[in-house]
Amino acid sequence: MIDLRSDTATRPTQGMREAIAAAAVGDEQKREDPSVNALQERVAALLGQEAAVFLPTATMANQIALKLHGRPGDVLLAERHAHVVIYEYGGAAAHAGLMVEPIPGRAGRISPEQLRVAAAPSSKVADQRAAVLALEDTHNSSGGRCWPLDELEEVVATARELGLATHLDGARLLNAAVAQGVAPAEIAARFDTVTLCLSKGLGCPLGAILAGSASMIERAWREKHLFGGAMRQAGIVAAAGIYALDHHVERLADDHERARRLARAWAEAGLPVDLGQVETNFVQLDVGALGLDTAEALLRLKDAGVGLSTTIHPSVLRAVTHLDVDDAAVDAACALVPDALGARVGA
Ligand SMILES: Cc1ncc(COP(=O)(O)O)c(C=O)c1O
Repeated sequence: MIDLRSDTATRPTQGMREAIAAAAVGDEQKREDPSVNALQERVAALLGQEAAVFLPTATMANQIALKLHGRPGDVLLAERHAHVVIYEYGGAAAHAGLMVEPIPGRAGRISPEQLRVAAAPSSKVADQRAAVLALEDTHNSSGGRCWPLDELEEVVATARELGLATHLDGARLLNAAVAQGVAPAEIAARFDTVTLCLSKGLGCPLGAILAGSASMIERAWREKHLFGGAMRQAGIVAAAGIYALDHHVERLADDHERARRLARAWAEAGLPVDLGQVETNFVQLDVGALGLDTAEALLRLKDAGVGLSTTIHPSVLRAVTHLDVDDAAVDAACALVPDALGARVGA
């Protein structure tokens, strides 16, 4: 199958497996794992933050960050389709006691005005306060869209003015940095805490990083233990992260180009694809406009040997390019998908 369901589908390359096999390891909980320590230092520098902590998943990184920024009863402000709002099983409430105020965005982005309205103090006598703003870049549910830096600056500055802590769910932050041609720190250094995922475009089997100030990350270590995320010889996995930073960052541009190629071919074949929305490695396909429901469309695609996946939008499927999808697979998918969905080639 040509697996375009998600960039989490990658398997470690031979080079990554060799790096894993050769990894220097130690007891991570005692902060004695040299590979984990090296990865943490490297990612902190990459993101323009003082310190970083290695975690098993980006969800755990987000959840720990939210817990660091708010007290039970505080309000988390986030775009309404953000991963922390819709895909983390109410973790913000379960783990941090936060109430979520979802803000309707455009392309995953919200405006300073929306933020001001949402952060307005409650009329309760006791302080029920907006405490934290979480943004997502790239934004998964809008199809891997990026925040233009000037807009990001305005919203983060507004958050600071309002006294909010700021967290960036940058699970795919490096996709945004590569697409925009900026250093990752230009995006990430503005935030109090930042999540980076290693098991998406970077192609690691698992792992994520939470970065922030030294004092914040010291507090995060306590939460890491509390969440059961403090590991032992985790250098086995951290070595994959270091390998990925050496070999898999610049190549994200290839994933982006392949996504554009898919989108162009599908649009030319008459499929409802908005090329203007393809900014990184996602292509969104509105099969409802073809008179198909997503279950039927996925079945047809599966029979044709192509995997796409559903999205939060009821009639929209997505294709995601990644390390395990090469040019030949993209060429094949350019033709197979319109055929399977009954689009007229050349329409
Ligand atoms: C934007 C975003 N944040 C966080 C996550 C969570 O990642 P993980 O599966 O490592 O917990 C995902 C996963 O898809 C994501 O897309």
